[in-house]
Formats: sequence, structure tokens, C-alpha cells
Amino acid sequence: MKTPLKGVFNGAFDTVDNIKISPFSRAYTFSDSVYEVVPFFNSTAIAFDDHIKRLEFSANQLAMALDLKEVIFEINSLITSSEFSNGYVYYQVTRGVDPLRSHIHEPNLKIETFGYAKAHLFQWKPLRVSVCDDIRWGRCDIKSTSLLGNVMNMNAAKLDNCDEVIMHKDNLLTEGGASNLFFVKNDSICTPALNGNILPGITRALLINELKNYSIEVIEDNFRLEDLSNASCAWLTSATKGLAPISEISNLESHLDLYHPLFKKSEEIFNKKFLS
Ligand code: PDD
Repeated sequence: MKTPLKGVFNGAFDTVDNIKISPFSRAYTFSDSVYEVVPFFNSTAIAFDDHIKRLEFSANQLAMALDLKEVIFEINSLITSSEFSNGYVYYQVTRGVDPLRSHIHEPNLKIETFGYAKAHLFQWKPLRVSVCDDIRWGRCDIKSTSLLGNVMNMNAAKLDNCDEVIMHKDNLLTEGGASNLFFVKNDSICTPALNGNILPGITRALLINELKNYSIEVIEDNFRLEDLSNASCAWLTSATKGLAPISEISNLESHLDLYHPLFKKSEEIFNKKFLS
């Protein structure tokens, strides 16, 4: 039998199987929740403060008051009490349980929190992706659990044997379904600039900053599908994917080199700093 995941719900630590949630939890009725995925390596969280800051930002946008001290304690406890040293913590903050389903929530609901730790191997395989319309809302900078656009696009792509998608709004590249996009064009590393259509990925920021220390510049700008089509390599970043190179784009003409020197260098620099 599989060992059940260890979790925490409203401050009480237990196995995830034992956690009971009300059907009137607004996470269930409205996705009225925000979340983080905090990776840890050698039992140490990667960019812990950055993840906490982003969670605080997301919660603030939804006017949810967080007990940050408690959140930090719970995430740390999940990491230190886990029997594996490499993995991630999923942590979700929900507005709470309403007495009845109603778009406008009751005032002063008690925030509901839920987290669990999961073992994870920080090894990535090349990804086959497809490009698709970014059908999501205008506040993708909030790390909300309302992810239907991502879910619909990624599952449609799965039918074409793709692992991920690269989304665009009117030809302007945004991001992956659960990751940020980087590519190399004319020997420069490029990534779409942050705005309301993109989640400010922590891995994205870590990579950009670390490359700076090696005097490698990343161009953050508006890029179009044609730029991706002309790219000589491309990769996606996330807390769980790390830097995952793209081998193939199923529905866009492209010529991507999995072993491009700028990708290999970026991977080496990232792994040296965060995964060794
Ligand atoms: N997703 N963009 C989207 C839409 C994402 O869902 C994610 C991460 C990222 C990358 O962010 P970061 O580098 O901070 O992980 C970008 C997580 C891993 C998830 O939902 O599982």
C-alpha cells in the first residue's frame, strides 16, 4: 500500500486521507483560493521568502488576511517532517466556508488553509508542446486555483500527446499552462515581459537573476509566435519542472536544438545554484 501524503488542514497535521472539507468551502464552490508550490531540495526550501511574498500578494489581491507566521510554520513543518529530502509543498489558502453558496461572501469568514508535502525528483525530460490561444482571464498574475483555462488547454494538448502548452493572446506569447517560457533568438535569451496575463514565476526570476551574475542578459519584452518559430531553442520553467527543454512544437514550424549552448549553460548555472 502507498504511504499516504502528510498534510495540514486549518493548522492540524494529519494524513491527507483523514482531512474532511465542507462542500460549502469556497474553494469547492468558487475556486475562491490562492496557492503556492514550494520546492525543497536537500530538505531546504528553494526561494522560500519569494514564495511567501507571492502568496501574500495573491491573498491581498483577494482581500484575504493571512496569518503569515502560521503559514511559514506549517510549510516548514511539512518539509522538516517529511521522510524525503527532495520534493515540494502544495499550500492553499481559501476564503473559508460560507453558510450557503453565494457569490458575495459573508463578512469575516474564517480563512481555510490546506497543505501537503510530496516527494519529487528534480529531473526533467524534453517536452513536446503545442501552441494555443490564451483563453484565461486578465489577472493571471494572481496565483489562484481558478485554472480552468490552463486545464482545458493542457488537456486538449494531451490528446495530441503533448506534455505542455505555450499560450498566446492575439499572437503575443504569454506563458506555459503551468510554467514560464524562455527561448533563444539571435543568440539572446528572451522571455515574455511580466503583465497581468502572466504569473511572475519564481523559477523565472531566479534564473534571470542568476544569469545576470554570469553577465548573461535575458531580454524581457513582448514577443510573438513568429519569434518562437524562429527560435533556436526554447524551455519552460517552474518550481517542479525546473528548466525543461522543448523538443518539439506540434502545431508550429520550429527548429529547436535541445542541446543549444545557451540552454546548457543556463541549466548548469541554475542546477549549480539551486539543485546541488
Ligand atoms: N505552477 N505560470 C503558471 C501558469 C504556473 O502555474 C506556474 C507554476 C508557473 C511557474 O511559476 P514558478 O516558477 O513559481 O513555479 C508559471 C505550479 C508549479 C503548479 O501549479 O503546479
